[in-house]
Amino acid sequence: MRIRKTIIIASFIFLIAIFAGAAADNSCLDCHEKLTAFSEKAKELNEVRIKHLQRDVACSIDCHATTIDEIAKSNYEQWTHSKHALFTITCDNCHSGNSSSDVKEIAHIGVSRSSETNSTVFYRNVPETCSKCHLNEFNQFKNSLHYQRLKALKQAPTCDTCHEPHEFKVLNKTQFQDLCSSCHNTDMKIAPDIPEKAVNALENAEELKNEIKKAQDAIKQAKQKGKDVSVAQKELDSAIAIRDNLPILWHSFNLPHFQNVTENGIIYARTSQTDSGVPPEEPSTPGFGTILSLTGIISIYLLVRRR
Ligand code: HEC
Ligand code: HEC
Ligand code: HEC
Ligand code: HEC
Ligand code: HEC
Repeated sequence: MRIRKTIIIASFIFLIAIFAGAAADNSCLDCHEKLTAFSEKAKELNEVRIKHLQRDVACSIDCHATTIDEIAKSNYEQWTHSKHALFTITCDNCHSGNSSSDVKEIAHIGVSRSSETNSTVFYRNVPETCSKCHLNEFNQFKNSLHYQRLKALKQAPTCDTCHEPHEFKVLNKTQFQDLCSSCHNTDMKIAPDIPEKAVNALENAEELKNEIKKAQDAIKQAKQKGKDVSVAQKELDSAIAIRDNLPILWHSFNLPHFQNVTENGIIYARTSQTDSGVPPEEPSTPGFGTILSLTGIISIYLLVRRR
């Protein structure tokens, strides 16, 4: 027992060491960490550039050449706050280059600027770059009007429009509603009802999560009472599978379909609650159980006394 524990702990430490080593050996990180300090101005410029790109203004990086190394630093700083940093997804994973050389010119071989149409980070190529690891999201995204417009060289959001580089966060409801509204509004006449519908859809997805929690509680209680929960469990599993796939399905940007699938999940979760045989926590009168057992005791007492 002791030995097994030691082995587990030792392999854990070994794994952590490997991860830390992998990050430490990456020249992109080593060098970019030491570049010029992060400034608010660089951040602003970076945002301007992103907006240029989204509006299809060919903004060459050279127009802001003096600040490029500050941007390189600020992007490093943003990256350190990302889940990618946590999982050692490093600069070269998206920008290519040679992460084992600490000579800038050699390290940068294969790294191209985001304004170049063949760059891995040129906004029209970004979905394919991300698809190396996020294939499921990409496969859904490929079915969307957004992707079709992107490929038809028209204005449309790409992955990092909604997941800002380099933090690559998942936006919350209010943040992404504002973001959708930057294109989906009455002035631009691109389906202006979308932002509200999108929030609605994600709220429904929240409801599915709540119904699943209720079903899980009901099944737990039913099990404690020794009931057969196999049917209820199957329905719960279906609801969970739907829940887990929703963030992926979302990327097809087909809101009616997303809503239908979510509704199905909610139905599964609710049927599971009913089929568990445990009544949902209705506001049952407190003390009802006590009264019932008291009546039981009294009747038994009366029965025994009769004899
Ligand atoms: C020895 C230091 C050093 C190393 C190693 C290094 N960089 Fe850079 N990088 C810089 C500097 C400095 C800049 C600012 C622009 C310039 O001077 O070229 C920069 C700029 C960039 C840019 C902006 C676009 C461009 O071409 O100017 C990207 C993207 C980039 N680096 C990615 C990487 C990646 C990916 C790696 C690892 C494979 C890496 N860098 C390794 C120093 C380095
Ligand atoms: C998950 C993918 C991903 C990772 C990891 C990543 N980047 Fe980027 N990076 C992008 C994308 C996409 C863009 C283009 C969007 C934009 O214009 O800012 C970009 C743009 C840049 C730019 C702006 C220069 C240009 O060519 O427009 C710099 C500098 C940069 N990244 C540096 C880095 C550094 C340094 C790291 C590592 C600390 C890093 N990136 C990690 C995806 C990534
Ligand atoms: C080399 C693999 C790799 C590449 C390339 C990559 N990612 Fe990731 N990404 C990961 C890993 C690993 C995680 C963390 C585990 C997870 O959430 O699945 C992650 C997480 C995320 C998350 C969730 C963040 C959170 O806070 O929950 C988003 C959003 C994301 N990536 C977007 C992107 C985008 C956009 C691109 C392309 C510009 C990209 N990724 C490229 C591997 C990658
Ligand atoms: C950069 C601009 C842009 C941004 C940002 C954007 N969209 Fe779109 N979206 C478009 C364009 C353009 C279309 C295609 C409209 C058309 O051809 O009818 C579209 C179409 C759609 C459609 C399909 C509409 C239909 O009638 O079938 C959905 C759904 C959608 N977007 C959802 C969203 C959501 C949700 C967000 C925010 C998370 C968002 N979009 C952000 C530009 C954008
Ligand atoms: C128009 C905006 C938009 C675009 C474009 C977009 N996403 Fe997302 N993405 C979102 C939103 C909103 C969520 C959160 C969805 C949810 O909670 O169900 C999300 C969630 C994610 C997640 C987290 C999934 C999880 O399991 O939690 C990843 C990873 C991701 N997106 C990657 C990508 C990649 C890769 C692309 C490009 C192929 C992309 N996104 C394009 C808006 C977008």
